[in-house]
Amino acid sequence: MDGELLEGQLAYYKARAEEYDEWFLRQGRYDRGPEWNRRWFAELEEVHRELGRFGPTGRVLELACGTGLWTLDLARHAAGVTAVDASPEVLEINRARLRKAGHETSVRYVEADLFDWRPDAAYDTVFFGFWLSHVPPERFEAFWDLVRHALKPGGRVFFVDSVGPETPDERERRSRGPQDHTTTRWLNDGREFRIVKIFYDPATLERRLADLGWRLSVMRTKERHLLYGFGESLARTAP
Ligand SMILES: C[S@@+](CC[C@H](N)C(=O)[O-])C[C@H]1O[C@@H](n2cnc3c(N)ncnc32)[C@H](O)[C@@H]1O
Repeated sequence: MDGELLEGQLAYYKARAEEYDEWFLRQGRYDRGPEWNRRWFAELEEVHRELGRFGPTGRVLELACGTGLWTLDLARHAAGVTAVDASPEVLEINRARLRKAGHETSVRYVEADLFDWRPDAAYDTVFFGFWLSHVPPERFEAFWDLVRHALKPGGRVFFVDSVGPETPDERERRSRGPQDHTTTRWLNDGREFRIVKIFYDPATLERRLADLGWRLSVMRTKERHLLYGFGESLARTAP
């Protein structure tokens, strides 16, 4: 079973809460030089633009919301956001970020383990950023079932994730063979954790989700670091 792996993954994100944004903002050891960083921010901007075009309006559910880097964007569009994460540490940072931007009243926070949580309402939009890649392969279908059950009829989903490893060294840390869906991550203080990290090819992911009853468009950003997808379920329950 993957219980120990998932516990370790959550322990990693809990311990990383205060330093998580360094990755997103390309600070410290995640600073890969001006040209690389410029492309990264351009790609993030591209996804933010696509998200704006998609329009996450109405009642929005954000899964694995983290420190609020996407929650803020969602709160600007939505009538209300329910933001779920299993780490109270990241939820606290998220809350502070939204409060600072004057959006805290539009967000309801739920501390819950997504592998053991059922939606408590029906939503117009479900969003998840950099989360699908952390869902173990054997839980892939159950996860998409959760998303489907969270949506109102006609509701839509939007997600963003990494296309592949950022550095060649990340590839090497997958030392357990080509089928290995885990990787080693470490914190600034050197502590090491093993987590799930799966990279999807956009076309293959799109076809796989079509087989599960989703009509989604999945694509890469121009510089090919990020993958994003959006669309809807064709079925209310799994086909
Ligand atoms: C890669 S981060 C993504 C955060 C945010 N969506 C973003 O894009 O910045 C993954 C998030 O998943 C959360 N997480 C890890 N395991 C979880 C679980 N079992 N249930 C709910 N959230 C979990 C972590 O606390 C972390 O905030």
